[in-house]
Amino acid sequence: MAGLALSQQITLHQLKVFEAAARHCSFTRAAEELFLTQPTISMQIKQLTQAVGLPLFEQVGKRLFLTDAGRELHVTCREIFERLALLEMSIANMKGLKQGQLRLAVITTTKYVIPRLLGPFCQRYPGIDISLKVTNHEGVLERMADNLDDLYIVSQPPENFDLNSYLFIENPLIVLAPSSHPLAREKNIPLNRLAEEPFIMREPGSGTRQVVQQLFDQQGIPIKVRLEIGSNEAIKQAIAGGLGISVLSIHSLALDYTTGQFAILDVEGFPISRNWYVIYPAGKQLSIIASTFFEYLQHEGREIASVSNLLASAGKI
Ligand code: PGA
Repeated sequence: MAGLALSQQITLHQLKVFEAAARHCSFTRAAEELFLTQPTISMQIKQLTQAVGLPLFEQVGKRLFLTDAGRELHVTCREIFERLALLEMSIANMKGLKQGQLRLAVITTTKYVIPRLLGPFCQRYPGIDISLKVTNHEGVLERMADNLDDLYIVSQPPENFDLNSYLFIENPLIVLAPSSHPLAREKNIPLNRLAEEPFIMREPGSGTRQVVQQLFDQQGIPIKVRLEIGSNEAIKQAIAGGLGISVLSIHSLALDYTTGQFAILDVEGFPISRNWYVIYPAGKQLSIIASTFFEYLQHEGREIASVSNLLASAGKI
């Protein structure tokens, strides 16, 4: 009963004043901290003392001490303010996740995976709008330098940038040919054998292109580039149309392997082992939405996007 009466008489403001006075054991310092006058502090504590019905402070010499009742009240105050802080945080989270935007910039090869991951995430948080920018390696890095998005996915995190980086999943690069290609049934095809084949190459600025070029350059093997195309999908169409072979992310086969149009060639040095990394600048404060999506990627997202799941769904294993 006494508690009920107390809760009807005291205010949060009084508790706040008391908490500061009790922490400092000084009305003067409490007044400074709260930008109030000392008489205001005294008045609030006086009213609180009346409501409690027992003295909260006692003066011994020049020093102020808490009484037993004061100590009890101080512990209760801390609990109340701690709970309020937690409540504030979870309300902010709820508001934050209810509506807002998630901005992603990803390299082209991830476009076979990221939309699939976004489905369940958007169902869980239907008020979130997604902006998904799909571009090549250089394009993603430019966007990050301009701080345009929340999270970025690349295969090769830049070394000259202070980053938070998380290895998301593997992204093997394979040599793709039409299934009718004469090399389709050969094993251990030497790399220089590819030099004789018309090659379809990604555009400058593409990470895939960079890796392919490096591999051939290291071995001193020239590439016979017949076509340069800025889209993995268009490259697949060109391969199916018999225009040449190319190196692509295995993920780009997501929906097509079962159609029987393509063969993955067994070439020395392939698959090239690459990974996707989720990155963002080290100093960046992620929004609640972005950090929730980041966590989602690290757990459920990895499962949905893994290469073995991809191949299983494509009927390859
Ligand atoms: P790309 O990205 O679209 O730039 O080729 C793929 C990669 O960097 O692995």
